[in-house]
Amino acid sequence: MDSVIKLRDIKKSFYIGKPNELEILHGISLSVQKGEFVSIVGASGSGKSTLMNVIGLLDRPTDGCYEIEGRDVAGASDQELSLIRNRKIGFVFQTYNLIARTDALKNVELPMMYAGVSKKVRAKRAAELLEVVGMKERMSHTPDELSGGQKQRVAIARAMANDPAIILADEPTGALDSKTGRTVMDLFHELNRNQGKTIVLITHSTGLAEETDRIITISDGTITGERAGSWNL
Ligand SMILES: Nc1ncnc2c1ncn2[C@@H]1O[C@H](COP(=O)(O)OP(=O)(O)OP(=O)(O)O)[C@@H](O)[C@H]1O
Ligand SMILES: [Mg+2]
Repeated sequence: MDSVIKLRDIKKSFYIGKPNELEILHGISLSVQKGEFVSIVGASGSGKSTLMNVIGLLDRPTDGCYEIEGRDVAGASDQELSLIRNRKIGFVFQTYNLIARTDALKNVELPMMYAGVSKKVRAKRAAELLEVVGMKERMSHTPDELSGGQKQRVAIARAMANDPAIILADEPTGALDSKTGRTVMDLFHELNRNQGKTIVLITHSTGLAEETDRIITISDGTITGERAGSWNL
């Protein structure tokens, strides 16, 4: 089987070697297949974002093995990790994390700029992506001129910029009303179904989790359950 994400016995500690050393992830093993839409649920403080940071190569695990598309990333330098992140992973956060005073088009162009895509090509692709998420008319608006839902749609377009294999979304609908959240979820379903994107979604909404192929429950830094979402039964 084609595992895009493969974690084996991943541990994550903070304040290592200090008296207040704290192990947050206690040995997480998890594989996500290509094209799968997986959700991670669990109480506040259970370690979901910590796990997401490890999966997204934003933070290194303290112990355990992580393979992304079959490549063990343990030995990779920080520079290599940034490169893999830029090419393979698209991030969507609860608070959008768009660049202020920078219009939607430039926000979407940014990951392509880092990837060395020419100005002409990236502007064209950014405009196309903004059209896909229904934001074509707001292309030249800055984040403070956009609603939460609009900002999140720009963030999703940005996440898609370098055509990543994986989309990691940490509470992407957490700051949105349910109708706007629905629009965002529909976009994820579309990217998953039509473009085969592998998606990992962290959510507090049990209803949204049910829409995904597989629901993983994490409790106090350990996976305590795993089952299929009811939409797929
Ligand atoms: N950089 C850090 N340094 C020290 N402790 C941390 C750090 N990051 C997270 N933690 C701790 O790890 C635990 C899990 O945090 P995490 O953010 O992963 O939870 P979460 O499941 O995402 O919660 P929420 O649903 O509220 O977002 C918390 O107790 C938190 O205080
Ligand atoms: Mg969190």
